[in-house]
Amino acid sequence: MLRPLDTQSVRRHFPGLSRKIAGAEAVFFDGPAGSQVPTRVAAAVSDYLLHHNANHGGPFATSVETDAMVDAARAAFADFFGASTPDEIVFGANMTTLTFHLARALARTWKPGDVLVVTDSDHDANVTPWVLAARDVGASVRRVPVRSDTTLDLDALDALLDDRTRLVAVGAASNLSGTIHDVRTIADRAHRHGALVFVDAVHFAAHCRIDVGAWNCDFVACSAYKFFGPHLGVLWGRQELLLNLEAYKVRPAPAHGPEKWQTGTAAFETIAGALAAVDYLADLGSAVGSHGNRRTRLDAAFAAIAQHEQLLTTRLLLGLRSLGAGEVIGLADPTQVARRCATVALVPRGIEPLRLQRALAERGIFAWAGHSYALALCESLGLLPHGVLRVGLLHYATAGEVDRLLEALAQLVACAGTRGA
Ligand SMILES: Cc1ncc(COP(=O)(O)O)c(C=O)c1O
Repeated sequence: MLRPLDTQSVRRHFPGLSRKIAGAEAVFFDGPAGSQVPTRVAAAVSDYLLHHNANHGGPFATSVETDAMVDAARAAFADFFGASTPDEIVFGANMTTLTFHLARALARTWKPGDVLVVTDSDHDANVTPWVLAARDVGASVRRVPVRSDTTLDLDALDALLDDRTRLVAVGAASNLSGTIHDVRTIADRAHRHGALVFVDAVHFAAHCRIDVGAWNCDFVACSAYKFFGPHLGVLWGRQELLLNLEAYKVRPAPAHGPEKWQTGTAAFETIAGALAAVDYLADLGSAVGSHGNRRTRLDAAFAAIAQHEQLLTTRLLLGLRSLGAGEVIGLADPTQVARRCATVALVPRGIEPLRLQRALAERGIFAWAGHSYALALCESLGLLPHGVLRVGLLHYATAGEVDRLLEALAQLVACAGTRGA
C-alpha cells in the first residue's frame, strides 16, 4: 500500500518555490512551459561541469566519466520510457529539434502520394515538422479533428487511414487542455495500415507514467525541463527503426547506436541533470513506500503524483465552476479528472487572458496566456486571437495555492465584470 505524497517534503527539494513576490510565496502554475528543478538536478549539472567536464570517447578520466554518465542516463531514460534497451534513447536540444531531425530522416522513406496524419489537438512541434517534411517529398497531410470537449474524434481517424498512410503523429496529452489521448487505440489502428506512430509525450511526462510497450508506438519524444530536469530533449525510438533508418549526420560521427542520431557534441551537463531528474522521481517512489527497482519506483511515483494532482484538479474545477470564472476548455467535469492532466484552460469571463495573466503575475501567481503553441486546437475551437489562461499544476502544487488562485480570480473576474471589460 503506497502512501500519499507529502507535499511539504516534496517542496523542500525545490528552492525555487520559496520565491517571494510582494511578501507572499510565488505560485508556480506555469509548469506546462517548464517546471522548477530540485536541488540535486542543479547539483548534478554543476558537479559535471566542475569535476567531469570533457568530450566523450577518450581514455582519460574526465572523458571516461562522461561516457559512464551518458550510459547511466540512457539506462535511466530506458526505465523512464519502459524501453527494452538503453540503445533506444537519443538525446537532443529539445523535442522540437529532435522531431524536425527525425522527420527529415523519415521523409527519405516517403514518396509523392504518401499520407501523414497529425491531429488538431497537438502542440505545433508535433504538426509543422511533419507538414514540412511531407511538403518536401510531395506527401499529403490529414488532420484528426477534435470534438468540442477536446477529445480526438477517433471515428474520423478511421476514415483518414489507408494503405498510403506512413505515419501518425499524436500527442499523449494536450498542453493546453490537459486532455489525455488514447494512444494505444490510435497506434493499433495506424499499425493495421502499416503506418508508424510518433508520440509527443512532452506534456504527459510530468504527470503520468510513460510506457512505450503499452502504447505500442514507434517513437516517443519528451523534454526533461517539463519534468524537473534541465533543458534537454529525449527521444525513444524502436531499436530496429533507429538502426535501419538513415540519419542526417556528419561522416566521422558513429554510424550505429543512438549516437548516430545525436548531431554534434551533446549537452553533457544537461544530460547529467536529466539523469538526476529521473532519479529524483524514482526516489519519490521510495518516499511513498516502493522499494523495488527504478522502474517499479517510477510506477509508484507517478501513481502518487496522479493521485495528488487529481485531488487538486478536482478542487480547481469545482472552484472555477462555483465562481462562474469563465469557460473551462476541455474536460471540465470534476468526475473526469483521471482522463486529463492537471492543466486547465480557462476562457475567463469579462477579461482577456493576457490581462488576467498580468494581474495574476502582480499577485505572485505565475500562469500562461494565449495559445501556448497549441495552434490547431485554438483555431478549431475558435479561441483565437486571445487563447486561454492556462493554469498548470505540478506535483509540488498545494491546495492552498489553488485556493489563492481562486480568491484572486474571484476578485479579478468580478472586478472585470463590473467594469464591463
Ligand atoms: C506538448 C508539447 N509538445 C512539444 C513541445 C515543444 O517542446 P520543446 O520545447 O522541448 O521543443 C512543448 C513545449 O511546450 C509541448 O508542450
